Amino acid sequence: MAGNSRTMLELALGLPEQMAEAAALCRCAELGEPVNYGPVLVAGMGGSAIGADLVRGLFWDEVPVAVSALRDYRVPASLGKDGLFVAVSYSGNTEETLSAFSLALKRGCRTLCITSGGALAGLAARHGVPTILIPGGLPPRAALGYLFVTLLVALGRLGLCRSYSRDLSEAVGLAASRRDEWQREARRLASKLVDRLPLVYSTSRLLDPVAERWRCQINENAKTMCHSSFFPEHNHNEIVGMGEPCFMTRKGVPIGLFDKSTHPRTALRWRHVLAVTRGGYERAVELRSEGRSGLARMLSLVMLGDLVSCELARLRGVDPMPVARIDELKRRMAQSRRQK
Ligand code: PA5
Repeated sequence: MAGNSRTMLELALGLPEQMAEAAALCRCAELGEPVNYGPVLVAGMGGSAIGADLVRGLFWDEVPVAVSALRDYRVPASLGKDGLFVAVSYSGNTEETLSAFSLALKRGCRTLCITSGGALAGLAARHGVPTILIPGGLPPRAALGYLFVTLLVALGRLGLCRSYSRDLSEAVGLAASRRDEWQREARRLASKLVDRLPLVYSTSRLLDPVAERWRCQINENAKTMCHSSFFPEHNHNEIVGMGEPCFMTRKGVPIGLFDKSTHPRTALRWRHVLAVTRGGYERAVELRSEGRSGLARMLSLVMLGDLVSCELARLRGVDPMPVARIDELKRRMAQSRRQK
């Protein structure tokens, strides 16, 4: 399904349909035998890495399997034969991911790929690595439904976690029924963020990747800076710096992301922080996840953030689609490779 004729806003609104499609697509993919693995390391960059963060957040208090995202050329010493290595690249041509994948193959660990094609698909085919092929033609960050859901369903099929199909159905249904209201809320929120620095704070480990997603989406879609961090750790360092340097004073807008998994003491900390740092920000916003399951709750705030980034792009008068600087950097890096 090509995304070129659709706007970023339409793509963001289409997240529930994409998630449902991804679940169906992954159920038929050939993944090999289920085995009991050790840790899961997912290599990917940018829009292809966030799915791993979301899985990590979801598993945090549900599944006793450590999932981490690897955003580098090299693999850590801890990656051994007992681990599962997943290479995720939407384009299949991201050099950091290709490098890490080659090193993982040399380590001899079990591997899996998620991509729409490119060099990664070719390399995986040559080495007989199971590959989930997802539809191409989208900006990678607009393929979150494919990238995240295929990873989650694949981990379930490989025996690493329970089936999330009921939670997925709930998340899809909730997002489809609430998206119009979330779009209106996104408009209201975006109007508070124009010419301001959004400071997005997660308050539970389920929401850490959501704050990260907000930051990346505001960077790439609205083409502006955004900061993300997490409570309660913020209270032990960042609290001291809030509002400085002085050109930022009263320009920051703290956005607290809350969930029923937020510890009551952390919620109390948020209120005290706002009081203690008054004068170091303009206004604060509190947002609460919706839904029953962790998956639905997490995705409710992901989708709201995606919509905020599109609305902020509109208010800033920028096109959310192109990421010219990323493209230019990739072009320069490819050129330097050819010149070697
Ligand atoms: O949003 C983007 O375009 C980037 O963050 C890309 O996802 C990133 O550069 C990695 O590319 P790919 O997802 O194709 O591996």
